[in-house]
Amino acid sequence: MSRIDTLIGAMTLAEKLGQLTMTASSYAVTGPVIAGDSTAAIKAGTIGNLLNMVGAAHVREMQRLAVEESRLGIPLLIGFDVVHGHRILFPVPLGEAALFDAETWALTARESAKEAAAEGLAMTFAPMLDVSRDPRWGRGVEGPGEDPWLGARMAEAKVRGFQGAGLAAADALAAVAKHYCAYGAVTAGRDYASADVSERTLREVYMPPFAAAVASGVPAVMPAFTDLAGIPMTAHRELLRGWLRGRWGFKGVIVSDYNAIAELMRHGIAADLAEAAAHALKAGVDIDMMSDAYRRGLPTALARKLVNMAEIDESVRRVLTLKEQLGLFDDPYRRGATPEPAEAFVHRRQLARAVGARAIVMLKNDKETLPLAASLRRLAVVGPLADAPAEMRGPWWGAADGEGQVSVASQVVHAPGVAIDSDDASGIEAALHLCATADAILLCVGEAATMSGEAASRAYLDLPGKQCRFAEAVFEHAHARAKPVIVVLFSGRPLVVPWLVEKADAVLAAWFLGSEAGNAIGDVLTGRVSPSGRTPVTWPRAAGQIPIFFGERNGGRPANPADRYTSKYLDVPNEPLFPFGHGLTYGRFALTNLRVTPLEVEDIDTMQISVDVRNEGARAAQETVFLFTHDKIASVARPLLELKGFAKIELQPGEAGTVTLSLRAAELRFLGIDLEPVFEPGEVEILVGPCADRLHLLTATVRLSWSRPC
Ligand code: BGC
Repeated sequence: MSRIDTLIGAMTLAEKLGQLTMTASSYAVTGPVIAGDSTAAIKAGTIGNLLNMVGAAHVREMQRLAVEESRLGIPLLIGFDVVHGHRILFPVPLGEAALFDAETWALTARESAKEAAAEGLAMTFAPMLDVSRDPRWGRGVEGPGEDPWLGARMAEAKVRGFQGAGLAAADALAAVAKHYCAYGAVTAGRDYASADVSERTLREVYMPPFAAAVASGVPAVMPAFTDLAGIPMTAHRELLRGWLRGRWGFKGVIVSDYNAIAELMRHGIAADLAEAAAHALKAGVDIDMMSDAYRRGLPTALARKLVNMAEIDESVRRVLTLKEQLGLFDDPYRRGATPEPAEAFVHRRQLARAVGARAIVMLKNDKETLPLAASLRRLAVVGPLADAPAEMRGPWWGAADGEGQVSVASQVVHAPGVAIDSDDASGIEAALHLCATADAILLCVGEAATMSGEAASRAYLDLPGKQCRFAEAVFEHAHARAKPVIVVLFSGRPLVVPWLVEKADAVLAAWFLGSEAGNAIGDVLTGRVSPSGRTPVTWPRAAGQIPIFFGERNGGRPANPADRYTSKYLDVPNEPLFPFGHGLTYGRFALTNLRVTPLEVEDIDTMQISVDVRNEGARAAQETVFLFTHDKIASVARPLLELKGFAKIELQPGEAGTVTLSLRAAELRFLGIDLEPVFEPGEVEILVGPCADRLHLLTATVRLSWSRPC
């Protein structure tokens, strides 16, 4: 008999339910439930998994209780939200997405895993893979942005990075793909609200990143808090058992979100904890995070015959299998045994700085205001985010304290002007005095770290508090004296700030860049680093345009300024403020000569798509080239642009090069009328360029034909 069979054979019901339970230590609580003293339960074998535990010594002690003092000695699985770093923070995921660089996505996950595993942790509740097209929703900051293809690439990279050489490695974390599925589609962008999307949108937009995570070997998945058309994801048999386990072959563990099983009662599909527990178990949820619904509800559910022991055993087996895969049975202390050397943190900070600089998206740079010329040496650094180290962390700051981050004005004279979100405007005068002494003004404005992330939806997406008034005062001062104003905009989402962009000479979207934020921003301002980030989300010009994303369909009446009865607003253009992919550099690139070979393809063929890129600017820079497709006539109307690839090229001033992308024709399949994949003959546009704005894309047309019969 295998170790797991033997254990299951020896376990009492209470011990089995312990393996299906995950409880928080008191380190960090993300929901309404506070855990009591868990140590007795660990020794009794009735808690098998922990979350929110930090510090190698604490983790080890908890593990010791489980392994050495419980009857069966089953090790604990200890998880934490290592979302964009543990102690050293990298940019928030949405900011990292702006890198469009899978190797770096994997690398930051690898470094985060090493740091967290060195403290004994074995699981991270990441990556978050919810496609988000509504910036009112605060959680978009945790994920890959608006595009499913991009989300899938990020999923692969993050899973690879967190898991390193394999789950059993002492520096590997088990990744958890979350929050399955369509959480990003919450009604009106309000966190935890219902989602209701079509079957097609579910499969085309919200599922692909999760399918990619499963294909990459993710060992755990977390269902979303939300319901999808009335069926809470925590109880969604069709999507959990049917799709995830059935169609995609996922063999790992499903861990509920925080208190989500008990919340099935609030959803209105369970009358009591026993029913809630039964719903979740039947759907295939193995670990109950923080509801205590399995321990308290499943015994009753068994008695009422809502579930049977075989179903419980099936979940216990999956949890034990994951613990085995993580090497916890062979050596429960393998993680956290050796503290990392100090150099590891130095190296990680350097990486955080380099990645931070590359995550910055230069939205505007009129008259080459940036990089800062030597003549603009006297710089006034103003705004509530000029010196705000704790805010630089952004949401989900892991175990990073508030002081360890570098902010913009760490060693520079600065004035906040106003607070991030208050009615007090009394500091504006002092800030304007500082501006009066300077040649140029660096205006650091935006959101607080906690204004995005969980439970952080916003209906107004302008600058909060009195920041608008402050910024207006700064612009007035500066414009009267012809001083440039450079805005550094901090946010966990695209803000709706057309007025700010219009008045500023240059704007950097700095998201929340983590521990080295200030240095990373400094590197870009001074020109030590040429900005290369590209926005992974469309920036609206008015909140009324939301949801706004590049993958729209044409509709029967596409916008035509000359025709009232076409799809547009009376009061705002359809176009976004900045399209997906937008981001300026210190170079200036011209793309020419798009070539696609072959131009006639069958589904087994692969196309080579090349474009020449020349840096016509005066500085070295990196250009990002995006590859989109558009199926012109199909049985189902296709989006106007579908992302299929990206590549980067670094060029010196005057230098030219060629970017070549491969595209398998099979990737031009789509879900037909019956929602099954089809490859239809006809014409498909290949569009290549610097962002998702058709006006900037080069176009070629390929012809698809049926595959030869075998
Ligand atoms: C969040 C999850 C997170 C969990 C544990 C929940 O509130 O929705 O994303 O992993 O808490 O901290």
